[in-house]
Amino acid sequence: MEFLNFTHDQSAADLIATVYPTPPLAYVHSYGCQQNVSDGERIKGVLMDIGFGLCDKPDDADLILFNTCAVREHAEQRVFGNVGALKAIKEKKPSLIIGLCGCMANQQHVVDKIRKSYPYVDLVFGVDGIDTLPALLTQKLNQKKRILMEPAQRPVIVEQMPVRRESDFRAWLPIMYGCDNFCTYCIVPYVRGREKSRRPEDILAEFKQLVEAGYKEITLLGQNVNSYGKGLDEEIDFADLLNLLCAVPGDYQIRFMTSHPKDASYKLIDTIAAQPHLCKHLHLPVQCGSNRILTEMNRRYTVEKYLDLVEYARKRIPGITFSSDIIVGFPGETEEDFQGTLELVKKVGYMQLFTFIYSKRTGTKAALMEDPTPRKEKTDRMQRLLDTQDAIAMDLVKKQIGQTVRVLVEGYGRTEGTLSGRLDNNLTVEFAAEDCLIGNYAMVKLTGARATVLLGELDA
Ligand code: SAH
Ligand code: SF4
Ligand code: F3S
Repeated sequence: MEFLNFTHDQSAADLIATVYPTPPLAYVHSYGCQQNVSDGERIKGVLMDIGFGLCDKPDDADLILFNTCAVREHAEQRVFGNVGALKAIKEKKPSLIIGLCGCMANQQHVVDKIRKSYPYVDLVFGVDGIDTLPALLTQKLNQKKRILMEPAQRPVIVEQMPVRRESDFRAWLPIMYGCDNFCTYCIVPYVRGREKSRRPEDILAEFKQLVEAGYKEITLLGQNVNSYGKGLDEEIDFADLLNLLCAVPGDYQIRFMTSHPKDASYKLIDTIAAQPHLCKHLHLPVQCGSNRILTEMNRRYTVEKYLDLVEYARKRIPGITFSSDIIVGFPGETEEDFQGTLELVKKVGYMQLFTFIYSKRTGTKAALMEDPTPRKEKTDRMQRLLDTQDAIAMDLVKKQIGQTVRVLVEGYGRTEGTLSGRLDNNLTVEFAAEDCLIGNYAMVKLTGARATVLLGELDA
């Protein structure tokens, strides 16, 4: 693994200043997971470093960049739909540069389709190409031809990239990139490449900057944070990294995602129990509650091992909450397998579930498996799962009423005059308060609930 430091590209900045009489505007839209949103913040930072301003309407832009997600077919269709809609804008403004980057751009069939069917897309580059954006734009502006990079993975980590963060109190902090797990349904290892960890000193430096800048919540990101540290010179695991970060003085909280159950350890749970900076919430995607399907998915844990982790965490961390991802209708999933999922969901009692109907991804192992279950059956299972989960979540939410808790105030609530805050355990509460509290901690008494949202009063 090679570690590079980002360097400012003055010649690109000079070129931009010559081509555009006033600073050009970029519209950058990120689809998909937090990792992509975090990449989007770096893309914006790199663009601003060479003289771009940002805008939030495609119509105002000189450069439109879609930072795409490939995880499910629907995500890809949406991107193609939205790219299609840009044709009209380009016709009105021929100087407009349209670019596509992110996970979809790391698939050959996507690059081929863009080349053939979307001639007004000028620029394509993959997830490892963010630091090369100034050079790609230079090439585009000088040669006036399309720059479509072929999918490639670089064994490189680029540090010190400029970042334009979306919030001034909540920050994303990637600790690793890529994924080595090859769950059989998942495209991520193919589009994001092999797992690579940032050096702890680089993470610590960025973390300290965030704390000093007043960030109240820092979320550490990786596709499998529990395997952090593989391939680094020094011996360090994820729990060690958490301890290193928690030693930084300040008024902040740390969240992290995603924890793969096969690598989640008692040590990690003990660390959450011991460190007050760590939120008492664990996102632990189980995907399914049938051991047979878990094996087919190559998840490398069993329902029993998963439940043991949950039980240990409950014992060590009173009040901890869990959330999870679940795939319904994996190839060959039977009604009995699905019953296993319902049973597991009830046993764990999740606060929140992210549920997906299986989507076939070309190039993955599962794409070659027989999938005889009709779509109607899958949507029916999904509905039963959602109904089960709703009842569980509403019940758990009600049990919180009566406590007074510290929340991070994130923004406006749904009812006029209210703000919305997040509890340590990741639940949300709405309460009447002045706008100036946004971005700060507040003490809130929990007085009621509307479905799965708590209602409360500011505790003076
Ligand atoms: N690295 C994370 C999640 C990455 S993708 C983890 O291992 O948990 C986010 C979620 O999308 C996954 O947890 C999974 O539930 C879902 N997902 C991934 N591929 C999918 C597919 N082909 N069809 C449906 N859902 C999928
Ligand atoms: Fe995909 Fe599995 Fe990697 Fe998560 S751990 S990104 S689900 S391959
Ligand atoms: Fe999507 Fe890429 Fe994330 S495929 S879910 S944006 S890693």
